[in-house]
Amino acid sequence: MQLRPFRLERYYDTREFAAPYMMSASDCETWTVAELTALDPNAADRLLALSLGYTPTTGHPDLRAQIASLYGQVQPEEVIVHAGAEEAVFTFMNAVLERGDHVIVHHPAYQSLAEIPRSLGCDVTPWATSAARGWALDPDDLRHAIRPSTRAIVINVPHSPTGWLPPAATLDAIVSIARDHEIVLFSDEVYRGLEYDDRDRLPTVVDAYEHGVSLGVMSKAYGLAGLRIGWLATHSPALARRVCQVKDYTTICSSAPSEYLATIALAHRAEVLSRNVGIIRGNLELLRSFLNARLTQFSWVPPRAGPVAFVEPARVTDVEGYCDMVLERAGVLLLPGTVFDEASRAVRVGFGRRSFPKALDRFAAVVDSV
Ligand SMILES: Cc1ncc(COP(=O)(O)O)c(C=O)c1O
Repeated sequence: MQLRPFRLERYYDTREFAAPYMMSASDCETWTVAELTALDPNAADRLLALSLGYTPTTGHPDLRAQIASLYGQVQPEEVIVHAGAEEAVFTFMNAVLERGDHVIVHHPAYQSLAEIPRSLGCDVTPWATSAARGWALDPDDLRHAIRPSTRAIVINVPHSPTGWLPPAATLDAIVSIARDHEIVLFSDEVYRGLEYDDRDRLPTVVDAYEHGVSLGVMSKAYGLAGLRIGWLATHSPALARRVCQVKDYTTICSSAPSEYLATIALAHRAEVLSRNVGIIRGNLELLRSFLNARLTQFSWVPPRAGPVAFVEPARVTDVEGYCDMVLERAGVLLLPGTVFDEASRAVRVGFGRRSFPKALDRFAAVVDSV
């Protein structure tokens, strides 16, 4: 297995905790342990009394039950808890794919969705989207890409870095193509719950399709990235077993305090989500006004869900140099789109945090002075 560097992580490695103003993160405003435990009158005491032994590989039963309740038709036994979504991507790909398999992957997207299959010796077909097409996946492209050796189709909805969310008919078409060929459909749904209009929320793929696998996490919508709790939901006991066999070689089990805190957050999810969606909605309006006032300087396809947008500064050919310049002059950290696609001329803007208005002001000052 030959993994190439994870461009996004390498970019953030030297900058994320040094930059005064993070304006490209894909997670929402976080919580302190005190804020989280205050959601439940007994939580702080229970946390202090918690044993710090191993937990079950599949996850603590209370946490699995909370996660299962996020879905329509998923039982707690169909959930496998992981250390973040990242570990779950790794175990899923290793459990399902073999050298020579063909995999179709949403592009551009989070690098590990394509990189892990590639590193396993799979033949990866990028399912390409573009700003000109509103970042939409075209089901006809999928139909044409399928081969007898296609083992998995991988999508990310709602999508990073663009905030694209398909209409229900598009997701139906994708499911029906996967079903016609009995191909596993892996759906990275880590931004689910952050739709700006609740009526736009799509069914999860594990609910919509018997061979669907849904990926979820506490990091994004819940703002709890530091817990490192993610999960897979699948109706296939055989797949779940193989995933656990891989997990035996990664983390074996998740951290007990993290599992407990994730359970509290999910038990109070309405409150956690509504705070974060409120922050996002307010910040998105600021971003919209900023861009509308500078129509000749930037273009974008407005996002429909999630805390990120993909914004293209006009006449910029070296987007990495542009991000360096903004960081140097304003202390504002953008993310060059090249970490998702080498040809990109866009930057990812993240507006899930309370610091966004201040960061945007500083960015505006630089943009308006050049
Ligand atoms: C689309 C997508 N999937 C998976 C992940 C991994 O999530 P985590 O860092 O919580 O493991 C990310 C993180 O940025 C992401 O954007």
